[in-house]
Amino acid sequence: MKILFFSAMPYDKYFFIRENEQYGFELEFLETHLGPHIVNAVEEGTPVVCTFVNDKLTEEVIGILAAKGVKVLALRCAGFNNVNLEAARKHGIRVCRVPAYSPEAVAEHAVAMLLTLNRKTHKAYNRVREQNFSLNGLLGFNLHGKTVGVVGTGKIGKAFCRIMAGFGCRVIAADPFPDADLTAAGVEYLPLTEVFAMSDIISLHCPLAPESQYLINRDSLALMKKGVTIINTSRGGLLHTADVIESLKSGQIAYLGIDVYEQEEKLFFKDLSGSIIADDTIQRLMSFPNVLVTGHQAFFTEEALQQIAQVTLRSVDQLCNGKPLDEAVILV
Ligand code: NAI
Repeated sequence: MKILFFSAMPYDKYFFIRENEQYGFELEFLETHLGPHIVNAVEEGTPVVCTFVNDKLTEEVIGILAAKGVKVLALRCAGFNNVNLEAARKHGIRVCRVPAYSPEAVAEHAVAMLLTLNRKTHKAYNRVREQNFSLNGLLGFNLHGKTVGVVGTGKIGKAFCRIMAGFGCRVIAADPFPDADLTAAGVEYLPLTEVFAMSDIISLHCPLAPESQYLINRDSLALMKKGVTIINTSRGGLLHTADVIESLKSGQIAYLGIDVYEQEEKLFFKDLSGSIIADDTIQRLMSFPNVLVTGHQAFFTEEALQQIAQVTLRSVDQLCNGKPLDEAVILV
């Protein structure tokens, strides 16, 4: 039975081929994103399509997939804001996902961004390679004793809180559903506005939803301490990028680390080193010396990729062979 992969990178192939040894599915990998421009190229009789975060599964795309005989849509990611689930339901396509893959991977990347920005190890690395051992411009600050505000304390936010507590930070958090383990460990839950006002460092770990879109905007930035550090490994749409750029210019934000960007689908996961980038906003962001951008790599560890391949192929096997289903992975 064939599984057709979109947005497939060499590392996807490696982990899926290895995991597939126990299933024996026929795997076909395409590098292109799935969207209206390519969906007609899907061959008739392809039972399973496997996609990632930036594939566009609109009503039109899902209708065409259904007409071509697709029965299962396997998302090899947790988020499904790019999938029209209603259309899948209407066309009788089952949809599964990987609800969690190594939350520690994302939390640890958020910490890596924070330490890089603060201790400027990326600049020191380049400097010493040119035999420049001067310390001018490398001054950082201690994390110990700082107040860290965590927005969203689900799987990833919880892992992040624990690491920051280990650094000796005061950890405060906002989440409509406080976590009892974290409260017991000394994390203080406060209203979001207080978290914004009291934090030296703010890290975002809540999902993107209509109520959280542009959570970081002109008004919320005005509540924050001057010189705040903001880390976003969650979704680009949580930041109002133009307002953030103004706050970087005024010094309201001292450091910004982003692994996600609102318009990332045109950029991330591609080598554009020989191209002219038309997106002036990302270019402006990357021009600040106190901004660190990574290309949606927070999840990118061996443990996470292995888990993604394991859960995806097990779900396809369960769905296609009438085996008992692991309900947590099924969306439709
Ligand atoms: P989760 O579902 O375990 O936790 C999310 C938490 O956010 C929940 O506790 C929820 O109550 C809280 N929340 C929801 N709306 C909120 C709001 N407006 N204010 C404060 N808290 C709010 O999700 P998980 O697994 O921790 O993932 C968090 C996010 O991380 C995902 O939504 C995704 O956007 C992002 N992510 C990024 C990855 C990357 O590679 N950069 C990889 C995986 C996830």
